[in-house]
Amino acid sequence: MNLELQTLTWAQAASLHTDALIVLVSQKQAKTTGLLATMLAQAEKSGDFAPTAGQCMLWWKPPGLNTQRLLFAGTGSGRAQDVRQAVTSAIQAVKKSKASKVTICLQDSHEPHLVVAAQAAADAAYVYTATKPSAKASLITRICLGVPDAKRSSASFAMAKAQVAGVALAREWGNRPANHATPELLAKAAKALAKHPKLSCEVLGLKEVLRLGMGSFAAVAQASAQPLKFIVLNYKGAAAAQAPVVLVGKGITFDTGGISLKPGPGMDEMKFDMCGAASVLGTFEALAHLKPAVNVVGLIPACENMPGGKALKPGDVVTSMSGQTIEILNTDAEGRLILCDALTYAKRFKPSAVIDIATLTGACVIALGHLRSGLYATDEALAKQLLDAGERSLDLCWRMPLDEEYAEGLKSNFADVANVADRAAGSVTAAKFLQRFANDFPWAHLDIAGTAWKSGAAKGATGRPVPALLSYLMAQVGKATSSSSSRRAKT
Ligand code: BES
Ligand code: MN
Ligand code: ZN
Repeated sequence: MNLELQTLTWAQAASLHTDALIVLVSQKQAKTTGLLATMLAQAEKSGDFAPTAGQCMLWWKPPGLNTQRLLFAGTGSGRAQDVRQAVTSAIQAVKKSKASKVTICLQDSHEPHLVVAAQAAADAAYVYTATKPSAKASLITRICLGVPDAKRSSASFAMAKAQVAGVALAREWGNRPANHATPELLAKAAKALAKHPKLSCEVLGLKEVLRLGMGSFAAVAQASAQPLKFIVLNYKGAAAAQAPVVLVGKGITFDTGGISLKPGPGMDEMKFDMCGAASVLGTFEALAHLKPAVNVVGLIPACENMPGGKALKPGDVVTSMSGQTIEILNTDAEGRLILCDALTYAKRFKPSAVIDIATLTGACVIALGHLRSGLYATDEALAKQLLDAGERSLDLCWRMPLDEEYAEGLKSNFADVANVADRAAGSVTAAKFLQRFANDFPWAHLDIAGTAWKSGAAKGATGRPVPALLSYLMAQVGKATSSSSSRRAKT
């Protein structure tokens, strides 16, 4: 997708040569003159159009204009959500036509609106083709954002371009079926990202993982014919002394449940169980575009969770890299088993914060549905920063509790901890399990089981929470923090 930015008033828009001109109209629309204003007034008077959010009206070859198609798209009271809805419905209408260059005339060049509009347009124009060549790539290849003052919007536009590219990458890898997105292929994608300046990537295999003592991660992978990969991405945008943010993404490329096998119906959706990993890749793609002055490390434990003669069995006890032993009561609670070793590994970077992102529990989908990701955090400032980043980018999360009482059910007679408790508060007990491995740094956990993909007719990855992660990271620019260990030493 090619994103462009230009200064565009309504008067300029009226003479613009483009395949489709989308004009966003809010209920607070100031009265103007000119052809577009006249057409709008007529449409409103006739009752065919009202600027409520998501309402759309299309003209084909409107006389007096140079565009092939004109769409008025209502943005209601003009909130970012309404802008998103307006752009989504307008692009969906245009997508059915032969238009390839689409221009969106925005009234408001406020950064969140610009980014949200660009993201909505790119999302609506996206077509998955990797294993479906008959789908044909999207006809919409150029999206031009028209704003009151392009110069003033250039920083916001850079953010929009980076986020759109990051979300696209996350969606693409999320959508690929498990046989086209193996741990090896994810590692290759990470290596490809490392070709950008300031980025590097290291991939560890089974030998190195065992040498590190990651017995929990290795155990999940042990029945799979696909070799595990532990991917380490490093983005160095700031001085070496500045403590990095570490992002940890769950990279289960397929989750059968293992010996605690999942039921057949809908199991195909467990190809999305690497969407946490995909969001880390997407965030690094965005960093490569924006080159902000922050340091970020990305960790992706990647493997399949399979049944078989070599598989983990309920009751097996494994030893994690932290030294804690874990009794596996349910082999389907595998995400936490690969993440715990990655969290222990994160400590070596003396991070300012560690954020893991995981399609961790069906219980989180029951709790929060598909709107907000579950946010757990041991650090108030980090929690607030992530919540705020989610609101800014419309990639929402909701704070969940970490009371010690929730850890009660994880007690085991045969190991330091069990990998599951009973069904109650399943998303919280999973977070409590992870917390045991995250005591050495400010830590947050995003359970994206309900937000990383859509089911049904619109089945597909969403690219979330790349927007929230990117907004969070961009807000860290200039907030120099030395390593957490030295900071702690001072206090
Ligand atoms: N990947 C799943 C979580 C999941 C399930 C995400 C459904 C989205 C939709 C995870 O590995 C899992 O299987 N979790 C179990 C945990 C349980 C065994 C404690 C679950 O949620 O059922
Ligand atoms: Mn599972
Ligand atoms: Zn899983």
